[in-house]
Amino acid sequence: MKEIIDAISRAAVRIKREIEFGDTSYSDHINKTGDTQLKLDIASDLIIEEEFKKIPCVKAIISEEKETAQTLNKDGKYIIGYDPLDGSSLIDVNLAVGSIFAIYEKEVNAKSIVAAIYVVYGPRTEMVVAKDDVRLYRLNESGEFKEIKTIKLNQKGKLNATGATQKGWSAYHKKLIEDIFADGYRLRYSGGMVPDLHQILLKGGGLFSYPATTDTPNGKLRLLFEVFPFAFVFEKAGGAAIDGKKRLLELKASHIHDTSPCFFGSNEEIDRVLNEYAKH
Ligand code: AHG
Ligand code: MN
Ligand code: MN
Repeated sequence: MKEIIDAISRAAVRIKREIEFGDTSYSDHINKTGDTQLKLDIASDLIIEEEFKKIPCVKAIISEEKETAQTLNKDGKYIIGYDPLDGSSLIDVNLAVGSIFAIYEKEVNAKSIVAAIYVVYGPRTEMVVAKDDVRLYRLNESGEFKEIKTIKLNQKGKLNATGATQKGWSAYHKKLIEDIFADGYRLRYSGGMVPDLHQILLKGGGLFSYPATTDTPNGKLRLLFEVFPFAFVFEKAGGAAIDGKKRLLELKASHIHDTSPCFFGSNEEIDRVLNEYAKH
């Protein structure tokens, strides 16, 4: 596992440089999800692939930016699902973006996740590693990630990050969100799940939702490299992660680019979602 964390640390330092000084224009490629790739999406994907190729324990990689899984070392123990540059549509407005990694052992399903790691490229570069617990690291002047603290969610938070197009929300989702705001929660939503979830984790709690909508009945966020890794992080930090009714970490993906509605948060907010969604 140390080899993987070191490879991700090296990739993060390189991606951070690309974000700061690289070409921020669009390419002429469209990825599997139908998004036009930025040159930075492609560059970040290649950097990560290069760093994982250097370590023998990685059997295969599954990237948001690649159509199919790619085998690196058939004797490797781990399969890594990753989103090389999450929130890349925020690059042009200079908001924080991230990279997300799920480390699967032997098979690719929620139950075989052994670690989840994400990197936030903001005013500072931070890495969060979830194994038995969840730890925050920060990049220092010498280019090394130094441990800052353990992240633990409170039972209840104050933030509400509400995703997806509101005109496509169900009536009960709308009611749930309005009730939460009526109880005094503050809106926090940048449109990048990495900084949005990082904020909830570091401010002690709240709710992030990306529900099913009329135009995207299976939600937008991808199971293998966005939803599962963050579900693992939230559970290990003492919170919870559901699709509205079920634990996200009990879902099965039948295709590598499958998506799911998702809710991440501290326990009280997730209980509210469960109670409201159970009625429908
Ligand atoms: P990506 O940039 O990898 O395609 O993912 C963006 C995701 C996620 O970061 C964010 O929460 C969500 O898309 C935002 O979607 P909306 O603009 O529909 O709110
Ligand atoms: Mn993404
Ligand atoms: Mn992406």
